[in-house]
Amino acid sequence: MFVMDYADGEWKQGEIVPFENISMHPAMSAIHYGQSIFEGMKAHRSINDDILVFRPGLNAKRFTESAIRMCMPPVNEELFIEAIRQLIKLDSEWVTKRRGHSLYIRPFLFATDELVGIRPSETYKFMIITSPVGQYYSEPLNVKIETHYTRAANGGVGRAKAAGNYAASLYPGLQAKKEGYHQLIWTDAKTNTFIEESGTMNIMFQINDVLITPDEDHDTILRGITKRSVLEVAKKWGVKVEERMISVEEVIEAAKNGTLQDAFGAGTAATIAPIAMIGHEDEKYFLPPVENRTLSNRIKTFLADLKTGRVADEFGWNLKV
Ligand SMILES: Cc1ncc(COP(=O)(O)O)c(C=O)c1O
Repeated sequence: MFVMDYADGEWKQGEIVPFENISMHPAMSAIHYGQSIFEGMKAHRSINDDILVFRPGLNAKRFTESAIRMCMPPVNEELFIEAIRQLIKLDSEWVTKRRGHSLYIRPFLFATDELVGIRPSETYKFMIITSPVGQYYSEPLNVKIETHYTRAANGGVGRAKAAGNYAASLYPGLQAKKEGYHQLIWTDAKTNTFIEESGTMNIMFQINDVLITPDEDHDTILRGITKRSVLEVAKKWGVKVEERMISVEEVIEAAKNGTLQDAFGAGTAATIAPIAMIGHEDEKYFLPPVENRTLSNRIKTFLADLKTGRVADEFGWNLKV
């Protein structure tokens, strides 16, 4: 694992050490006041035996933005990427060629002041751990449009990959599971009428052959790298894409009149997680069979092939370790 400490107003020399437990003071501020952020990305073994990391520059940038929002010292983005590169080199045997398998990379940053009292911490720890992960199969999801609980509010920290955002989503997620859903579709905090994200993924719809996803002008939505990549691929293929606010009403109307061709979550874990059914109020709306969703299936295959060197990296998205 990679470890680097911040103290006296500066980042110290980082190092890679054997994976081990870390000890902490019981008053360590991250566990009391939640200054804690993370990132997540994957490294794949290509068919040419290279190790490729998918768009880590965007993770580095998002990590900086999360740190600033949470009042933490950003990590130099080049160092962030170099640390990942060095760590993967050491862990290279964990990156196997098995289809769908990859090495998950988890950088995280947390406050380490030993103090009970609310103020920005003056000391921090930046770490990176990795773990091999298998094929992530997502069965088509049944999702409920959440109109009571919210994930993020205007002016809040929804755009940051802050640990507390995930803690806040657990209780509503559990309630939905009790009702038989896999996940929630989050709506805006103010009116609960506009769609924001699904679970811990961005959400995309295909209505009347147009690929639609909420725009990123709202600080309630995480700027997902998978969603961005799906949009860029679709645009390149001549598909009409729209990044704009999308209302619950519009989606329900499209489901009713048969123009809702597809809905899926987009995120690093599954790349594309198809939605089978959307629950809203007391109604359930069923989407077309997954095998008929030509566009998202094609994009999913294309991205898997791109990440493993099976197709040319025409976008320049892979970082070779
Ligand atoms: C809340 C949330 N939205 C969206 C995403 C998707 O982002 P990415 O595609 O960068 O993994 C994630 C992370 O995976 C997330 O945690």
